[in-house]
This record gives sequence, structure tokens and C-alpha cells, in this order.
Amino acid sequence: MDFSALVAPLSAHEFITDVLGCRAQVLRGSPDRFASLLPWWELNNILRFHRFEEGQLRIARNGVRIDPDTYNPETLTYPERSQLMRHRKLDGVSVQQHLREGATLQIFGIDELYEPVARLSAVIEAKIRERVYVHAFVSWGSTQGYKTHWDDSDGIIVQVHGRKKWHLWEPTRVRPDHRDYGEIPPPHGPPQEFVVRAGDVMHVPKGWWHLVTPDDEASVHLAFSLTARTGHDFLTWALDEFRKDTELCRADLPLRDSQDIVHNRHAGDLREALSNYLTSPGLIPLFLRSYDAAQPARRGFSLHPATDRDPLASDAAIVTWLAPLADIESTSTWTGITAAGQRHDFGPHAQALVAVLRDCQPRSMIELRRLANVPVADTREVVRQFVIAGLAAIPVI
Ligand SMILES: [Fe+2]
Repeated sequence: MDFSALVAPLSAHEFITDVLGCRAQVLRGSPDRFASLLPWWELNNILRFHRFEEGQLRIARNGVRIDPDTYNPETLTYPERSQLMRHRKLDGVSVQQHLREGATLQIFGIDELYEPVARLSAVIEAKIRERVYVHAFVSWGSTQGYKTHWDDSDGIIVQVHGRKKWHLWEPTRVRPDHRDYGEIPPPHGPPQEFVVRAGDVMHVPKGWWHLVTPDDEASVHLAFSLTARTGHDFLTWALDEFRKDTELCRADLPLRDSQDIVHNRHAGDLREALSNYLTSPGLIPLFLRSYDAAQPARRGFSLHPATDRDPLASDAAIVTWLAPLADIESTSTWTGITAAGQRHDFGPHAQALVAVLRDCQPRSMIELRRLANVPVADTREVVRQFVIAGLAAIPVI
């Protein structure tokens, strides 16, 4: 699924410019359109086969977190051999009992556990150009899992199965961040009410208060959290860069018993130097590029049974891009891609291939070389370099 299909009937441009971060809105869709994003049987397999670290899976009811030791107890892997191999193992009977009693189950980072969710997460990340985190919420009955609260990131809610009722209130502090938790007055007045059904997408901007209640049927929704850079992020980075470049910033302040005029003159000199620095051309783009370049690629694996055969020789081999946030610069003969702070240099065809791959849609080798208009041998060679650099993977041949 591409980003436009996710936010239909709006266009991607309309969603990003008119809705994202501005207002709550439900986008209605056909009931089965997200069914394969996280089928019930896959959810059961994830719960059965995955070991959840502390805090990665939570169960809550009426705003109270249930003690994880009651459903995710620590056990020994090989009790007869070693006391050292301890891990947590979900107790299916207990989990189902809590859920039958109206609790909500939340899985953090479910995009690291199931490929279709990972792919949609990467697609959103590539389009919005900000880090995306995905949490799954599973519930029955009609009891809310969490109290009325707000989140410090814009949310795209994808209702996969069933339906939920949402009560929304406008922010009592506009665009708050995580430092504001516990500091903001509660909402007042009647809420906006939405019933979000399977196939619907809802946007909840940062800071909007919300109360989510299952509507007496089994329900699964995914919350894609978009963590945009803020003015505070920029200023924090800029102040550190300013310190590196400016002797006055590194210099000691005047002595405590100096006259006020000395303190005031020093503060004025700092203000002027900082003001000049902050308004130097291209500083915000430079910050964003440095942020992008520091972001690690997503994980991918390209293992195949035939070690004596080149997987890229197959036209059907699927290529997936793992670095939607990477910083990319190109000339006609060179492309530099920086992820996790490390720059990788590629030859003349890389630019055209990245332009096709960068929306994070999986592409077959034949589709990729046709869309990029790059010869077969060059496509293979550059994709091979992408895979070695950890920027792409060949999960399927
Ligand atoms: Fe929330």
C-alpha cells in the first residue's frame, strides 16, 4: 500500500498540508482493506512465538496497568542446564483472561515483528520524512484500556479489525512535547465523537486529548506515531554548533560580583552573535540533513539457500529499501548516501535507482531497472552495493 492509498480519498499532498498536525479527521475506507496488515492468526503467532522484553507488551484496564508478572512471567529456557538463560514467556491463559475481562493489550514496536506493518511504516516514514513508531492495540468489551490522555506525536490510526469509539478534545496546550506530561490542565467541554471502523484511518494531532473505548467487539488498531523535529530540537543542535564555532560562547561569564553593566554587555554580545548565527543561510536545512544522516537504516536480511548463485541474477528478486530517512546527495556521476552517520559513495546509476526505491515499495529487479532506466548489469552491481551497505535487502528471490 502506498501513502496515497492510505490517506484516500484525500491526496497525499492534501493530507500533509491540510490535515497532518492541524485537525482530527476520519478517512473512511472499505472494511477489509487493512485485514492483511495484521491478520488475527498472525497476531496469535506473534504472541505465541515472540519473547517480549519488559515494557514491550502491556495490558491495561480502566487506566491501570496490570502487573506483567501475572501474564508475562520470567521463566528458565533450559531449567535442567542453566539458571542464566532467563526470559519472559507470555502465558496464553492469563493474557486471554485479562482481555476477556475488558483489558486492552498494547504491543510497542510491532513494525519490528511483522513485515506488512514494517513496510507500511517505512512507506509513511519515506513520505513524511520523520521517524515513525508503530504500536498495536487489541481489545474486546467496552472498557477503556487507558485514561483520557494526549500524546507527544502526531498519530495516524489504522483500524484493522472491529471498531472503536474515540472521544477527542482540542489541546489545552498547543503542540506540547514530552516535557509537558503532568503539566497541562485537563480538557473541558463536550468532546468530538467518532466511531472508527475496520478500514478507516484517523488522524489525531499531537496534544489532542483522547479516550478510546472498544465498541463491544474484538478490535485491533495500529497507531503510527510521527515524531517531527521541533524548534527546540533545532535550537538544541544549533546552540551546540554555535558553541563549536564561537569563542564568546565558550568563554567564561563575567565574575559574579561584576557590575550589572558588564553582565548586560556580555549578554548583549552573546545575543548578537547567536542571532547572527541562527539567521545564517540554510541553517535549518543543515540541521535536518544532519538529523537524517544520523538515522540508522531499518534492519533487513538477504539470506538465500543457493550460496553458489547470485540472487540478483533473478529478474524476480525483490529489492526493499531500508533507509527512508537517509541523507542523499547526488551529482551526475556520484551519489552519497549517509545513514547512521556513515556515508556510502556510489557511481552514476545510483541516483536513478534510489529515486525508484526511496518510497519503500518493494520492487522486482526487472521492475526496478525498467523504472530507473538502468542497464541490467549496472542495476545488479549498484543494488549489490546497496545491500552490502545495509541500505537495501533482497528478502525474496
Ligand atoms: Fe494515545
